[in-house]
Amino acid sequence: MNLIQPGHLIRKTRKAQPYNNVQPDQPKQKFITDALQKRKEEHQFRSLKGIDPEAGSMKVIREGKELINFCSNDYLGLATHPKVIEAATVYTQKYGAGATASRLVSGNFSIHEQLEEELKNTFGFDAAMLFNTGFQANTTVIAALADRNSLILADRKIHNSMLQGSILSRAELKRFHHNDYAHLEQQLKSAEGKEYNRIWILTETVFSMDGDRNDLDKLICLSEQYNALLFSDDAHAIGVLGEKGLGLNHGKEGIDISVGTFGKAFGVFGAFIGCSKPMKEYLVNHCPGFIYTTALPPGVVGAISKTLNLVPKMDDQRDELLRNTAYIKAELQALGFNTADSDSQIIPVIIGDEKDTMNLSGWLEEQGIWASAIRPPTVQQGLSRIRITLTAKHTKEQLNRLIRAFKEWGKR
Ligand SMILES: Cc1ncc(COP(=O)(O)O)c(C=O)c1O
Repeated sequence: MNLIQPGHLIRKTRKAQPYNNVQPDQPKQKFITDALQKRKEEHQFRSLKGIDPEAGSMKVIREGKELINFCSNDYLGLATHPKVIEAATVYTQKYGAGATASRLVSGNFSIHEQLEEELKNTFGFDAAMLFNTGFQANTTVIAALADRNSLILADRKIHNSMLQGSILSRAELKRFHHNDYAHLEQQLKSAEGKEYNRIWILTETVFSMDGDRNDLDKLICLSEQYNALLFSDDAHAIGVLGEKGLGLNHGKEGIDISVGTFGKAFGVFGAFIGCSKPMKEYLVNHCPGFIYTTALPPGVVGAISKTLNLVPKMDDQRDELLRNTAYIKAELQALGFNTADSDSQIIPVIIGDEKDTMNLSGWLEEQGIWASAIRPPTVQQGLSRIRITLTAKHTKEQLNRLIRAFKEWGKR
């Protein structure tokens, strides 16, 4: 059974590792060096590398080397759009660099309220609510909407932020096999007659590491049938998919919380949820990650507002992105690479072993290609991969360089 009870997990881990007991003669930070050593031995160690992006193109300079960026989420190229930059500048000059307080204190400028109104109208929700990041929205909203008497049923591949929110809520958390709605229904059925105060189903419209999609209609149907609440994260779809790029949650009745982020196709920063008016009021009163944090800076609000105006008109860029995606997927598959069930601009190339994945990533870098290696714990053991994200700004020449590099690797 896929049952995770965080409390149990923590207790088990502590018992299994007696060296975690406080020992007077042991360096206090030994647990840090031990954990880092373990990550290195398992080829799972991560480190930061600074880059200098070349504005307006997909080129970056990393450690003195020019690379083509195939791991950006700026799917439409909005991060460097002159009108977006101008809006950020104008708002900053007019309202200052920071909002200077949380929304409930003195950081609720009229521009925050106007933006929520624009979001609500554009996406067709009853209410919209800004958050500082998607991670913050998922973590804090889930934790505010479930408690120790609730049940959370989460797709096995949901983003870590939703997982953190679930753990923080102290609800009972069960994972259903990825996109396996028979398994979900089994879990819903077995919850019947139990004394949960509510049941939440957590899903993503486009899964961040696999680029495949959920079946939203089926999820809506199940949540209605079993009186469960539905939380659907649209982070990688908004801007790109759905009518006018308004995402896959757009226009669907029966989603209780829809999450959208502005750090991906919108090219900026921040996030929002779409929900009912009472839900928004509840969260304004009960959601710590909304209440106890400084409001989004005016420049960010200005930039988001401009992108909101631009995104629905960017069908040409969306078509270009679709073409780039179809081309890369077909070429990789023709070379015999496994791109799993990707159905979006996120294309995983499944390699399996962590070391092989790192070697391939290093090889790609030598060829001037930057595509990130994704390993456990982000993905399951044995499913390490190179995760490629495409944008409307990649040129045909850049796409061909990517394909050539994979081809050469395949020949080695
Ligand atoms: C599905 C999903 N939700 C939420 C987030 C977090 O969004 P943000 O980058 O705004 O914190 C991400 C980003 O990695 C994501 O992929």
